[in-house]
Amino acid sequence: MARDGLDSLALVPGANLLYVTGLSFFPSERPVVALFPADNTPAIVLPALEAPKVAHATCPLQPFPYTDEEGPTLAFHQACVALELADARIGVEGLRMRLMEARYLERYAPGCTLVPADETVGRLRLNKSPDELAQMRRAVALVEAALRATLDRLRAGMTEREVAGLLMVELLRAGSEGVPFQPIVVAGPNAASPHATPSDRPIRPGEPIIIDCGAVVAGYASDITRTVAIGGLPEEWVTIYRVVEEANGAGRSRVAPGVAAQEVDRAARRVIQAAGYGAQFIHRTGHGLGLEVHEPPYIAEGNRELLQPGMTFTVEPGVYLPDRGGVRIEDDVVVTDQGAESLTTFPRELLLI
Ligand code: CO
Ligand code: CO
Repeated sequence: MARDGLDSLALVPGANLLYVTGLSFFPSERPVVALFPADNTPAIVLPALEAPKVAHATCPLQPFPYTDEEGPTLAFHQACVALELADARIGVEGLRMRLMEARYLERYAPGCTLVPADETVGRLRLNKSPDELAQMRRAVALVEAALRATLDRLRAGMTEREVAGLLMVELLRAGSEGVPFQPIVVAGPNAASPHATPSDRPIRPGEPIIIDCGAVVAGYASDITRTVAIGGLPEEWVTIYRVVEEANGAGRSRVAPGVAAQEVDRAARRVIQAAGYGAQFIHRTGHGLGLEVHEPPYIAEGNRELLQPGMTFTVEPGVYLPDRGGVRIEDDVVVTDQGAESLTTFPRELLLI
């Protein structure tokens, strides 16, 4: 905060607030804003019904609760006065804070300036501690168990939605705290879009089936993709599968401390380009993973940020043929002192059911 010339930081429900205070809130129309002044006790404006949570915070927090009848006006006013936020430079989460919270701050901290501080705050979460890595390893173990159990039951004729439902049940049964994102199960033409949603189309033998899913443990996410098929795959798809598998390996092998994030993208992309499918690899190679499913560092061309031990991210190259299908293989890696370790260990060879 001193480096960025910030007098205070204002966090809203989400990964950063959870990281700093240990508290999670469901973002709703009732505003929750935690204020961290550089030289004063932190405070939190929150609905009275959520106030008991503050006792479990991992840092001191002075509560400013409001009831549904009162509304948040007085609580914001009191907090801003107590923390002397008038004319302050307040760092906020530009990707998360809504106009509603911004307006409350601007109104009750007259003269304040709201400055996007996503990068400064995000930096705190970039290098995972051994404790955080332990949670991520658990999240990986759960998702791999759920994936295995689902694949055991996968049969031709089941719809994508049916399989996604099975996966969801297996994830919860394995002990996942909900899901970090809706499981993706897409086959045939639907698999040509990296972010397609499962449909009611029955899955047929001989087409690539992309399954992308994750688990959550103590707020930490895992994120894995495997592409499988029922019966077998036409030669062209087997070739594409091998290319993507090789690209995944090339990307993971490039991961080491001191290597620019974009080099990992280049290593994976080079393999796919050399095979003639460069134009069909339509997304970055990966994204950071932790309390959020997408967070820095982004593994993309143009990101010159140097990798450091403790950073965790995905390596997930894919090839997508419009209207026909796709293949993606996604692993979660952690940068170590010597190189990298893949947290996901689920077999990467083409699995035929
Ligand atoms: Co994924
Ligand atoms: Co991913």
